[in-house]
Amino acid sequence: MVSEDVWKIIEEEVEKPSIFKSKESLTPEYLPDTLPHREKELKELASYFKHLVTSPGSFSQRVLIVGGVGTGKTATARIFGRDFTRYASSKGYKIRYVHVNCHSNRTLYNVVSDIARQLDAPIPSRGLSVREMFDALLNYLDETDQYAIIALDEFHYFASLAGRDAVYFIARSYDAIDVPVKRLNYIFISQDTAKLSLLDPSLENYLLRHMIKLEPYSSTQLFDILRYRASKAFYEGTYDDSVLKFIAEYEGYDKGGGGNARHAIEILMLSGVIAENEGSRRINLDHVRKAIMKTSREIVSISEAINYSSLHELLILLSIVRILRRTGKPYVKIGDVEKEYEIVCESLNTQPRKHTQVYEYIINLKKAGVIEARLSGKGMRGRTTLVGINYGPLDLLEQYLIDLVKKKMALGAQ
Ligand SMILES: Nc1ncnc2c1ncn2[C@@H]1O[C@H](COP(=O)(O)OP(=O)(O)OP(=O)(O)O)[C@@H](O)[C@H]1O
Ligand SMILES: [Mg+2]
Repeated sequence: MVSEDVWKIIEEEVEKPSIFKSKESLTPEYLPDTLPHREKELKELASYFKHLVTSPGSFSQRVLIVGGVGTGKTATARIFGRDFTRYASSKGYKIRYVHVNCHSNRTLYNVVSDIARQLDAPIPSRGLSVREMFDALLNYLDETDQYAIIALDEFHYFASLAGRDAVYFIARSYDAIDVPVKRLNYIFISQDTAKLSLLDPSLENYLLRHMIKLEPYSSTQLFDILRYRASKAFYEGTYDDSVLKFIAEYEGYDKGGGGNARHAIEILMLSGVIAENEGSRRINLDHVRKAIMKTSREIVSISEAINYSSLHELLILLSIVRILRRTGKPYVKIGDVEKEYEIVCESLNTQPRKHTQVYEYIINLKKAGVIEARLSGKGMRGRTTLVGINYGPLDLLEQYLIDLVKKKMALGAQ
């Protein structure tokens, strides 16, 4: 017998409407249907590997994908592999895509046996040398008339850990085998080109000429990516563009962020979890700020930056935080900040500074990276400066500021 109270608790929790339509679709393992802003790179891959359907077996292609963290290297390769093999199969060609993570397979033996396993090659798991395993794998492809694209992800790990001979074996030994039909093709994936010097010079040169470079995402690109991923993950009406824009601007490379799609998606997912935990049916900017706070240590460095600010800089910052909290908007007008600042000064019995001084303080805060400032767009009457804070959460920041202000005033600051 379940007690009625406990039953109710369980029932309520289980049946509570969720804002997530599909939380799994925001997990790192999930492979989306398409990749906005990677069309050019997918096209390049198709161009590099099209011989597999136009003249199969004519040569063995090698391509290098490089790019920083979260720029979509893994996803681009996997999606290309998934859809290229489907396309080829519709034309009657048997092409297999194999994705090996060299971070978890750090030895040559592990890499080769992982390739064999993913190809379902009937090779005994014990007792064979790497060379024997590799030959058996080639035989299997020949007998079944299949071709393979092998992606070696995090290849820099393999290059640093497995050693020069292992790198040669994986990257080059196939060239030395004289076969009439070339069945193996490679995609090397790495964060940079530094470790490529471990390859022999001719392959290194070849790869540098067959390199696809993924640039960090800009804020507008991240916005599109988030919009697409959010539409899969959340029910309609549980978020709006301002939430996505906030995350995109926080992470966008052009705005000083990392341009990392993984981080942006992680913040989106966490914002949803936080909103849900707070019983909200809608994600708001404060949920996003909390999510950012959890995923970064930025607030720590901000608190260091403002420790050295003057009393009135802190009061201006406090005014900005208060308006942002009250309005729930990402930016406030500088005129509103000044009005709020006067109220704050009055409540603390201190004389507000003049307009030009206030403006200078705001510039200082911007230079210190504590706030963001920009000119408003054409839409507003006259152009005005807008200021915002792109981290959070604001309630903690406000409390922190109040404590700091009290301390400074106790020490005689005016
Ligand atoms: N253009 C895009 N559209 C939609 N989702 C994307 C896009 N680019 C990346 N993502 C998503 O962002 C996350 C990170 O991408 P991915 O793992 O491919 O990055 P990576 O370059 O391999 O990073 P790392 O160097 O850390 O391995 C994944 O969840 C991926 O699905
Ligand atoms: Mg990756």
